[in-house]
Amino acid sequence: MSEPAELVAPVYSRVLLKLSGEALMGDRQYGIDPDVVRGIANQVAEARAGTVQIAVVVGGGNIFRGLAAASSGMDRATGDYMGMLATAMNGLALQDALEQAGCPTRVMSAIGMNEICEPYIRRRAMRHLEKGRVVVLVAGTGNPYFTTDTAATLRAVDGVYDADPEKDPKARRFTRIGYTELLASRLEALDATAVSLAMDNEMPIVVFDMTQPGNIVRAVRGEPIGTLIGA
Ligand code: GTP
Repeated sequence: MSEPAELVAPVYSRVLLKLSGEALMGDRQYGIDPDVVRGIANQVAEARAGTVQIAVVVGGGNIFRGLAAASSGMDRATGDYMGMLATAMNGLALQDALEQAGCPTRVMSAIGMNEICEPYIRRRAMRHLEKGRVVVLVAGTGNPYFTTDTAATLRAVDGVYDADPEKDPKARRFTRIGYTELLASRLEALDATAVSLAMDNEMPIVVFDMTQPGNIVRAVRGEPIGTLIGA
């Protein structure tokens, strides 16, 4: 049984939660499942209770995947821009659910769409976080050819394995792995650029299965779930 929330000191003071668009569709083939979004919002609200600052990067693959469109002939940059618009739709859905769960939320976009959400301004995002608002970041980096994916998010992952768990039944999950070990092993579970950036900035990454109820809260509290990637 887990301890009551007020007795557990969160180990992280600021976290960035990466939600793939696919995470919002639940069992559907496409789009947004409101129950799933509500469930995620409730967990974020619980994880935030107290002093943890939470930013969320949301993807758009549940609505549109630029890469898939490019493979069927569309101009890659155009496809990526459409994908960025999809992330904005997800961001607004998340904001709505978060505010219904009692979390003041600001959506900030890397592409100007001022009538819909705020522009991303780093110092302003920091102020929002300091004031206890959840900041939902949409439109990725604002540039085509860059994915928001850190992990292989097309299928559910609950951590980093030493082999592909779908192909190799003997694959074992790491509970911890070093940045350099992960990069050297050329495991495909994570985006190498994202891991290098995290390493340079000494930011730990936790890869976990967020479809399990309570896991977002556990990860934010530093409980040992999934795989912790660190120094
Ligand atoms: P403080 O300055 O700390 O009070 O932050 P605040 O976000 O509460 O105040 P602000 O007056 O900046 O924003 C009020 C509301 O307008 C919030 O819901 C913002 O998300 C929203 N808002 C602010 N700037 C923009 C913008 O450029 N576009 C859109 N669509 N909404 C905005």
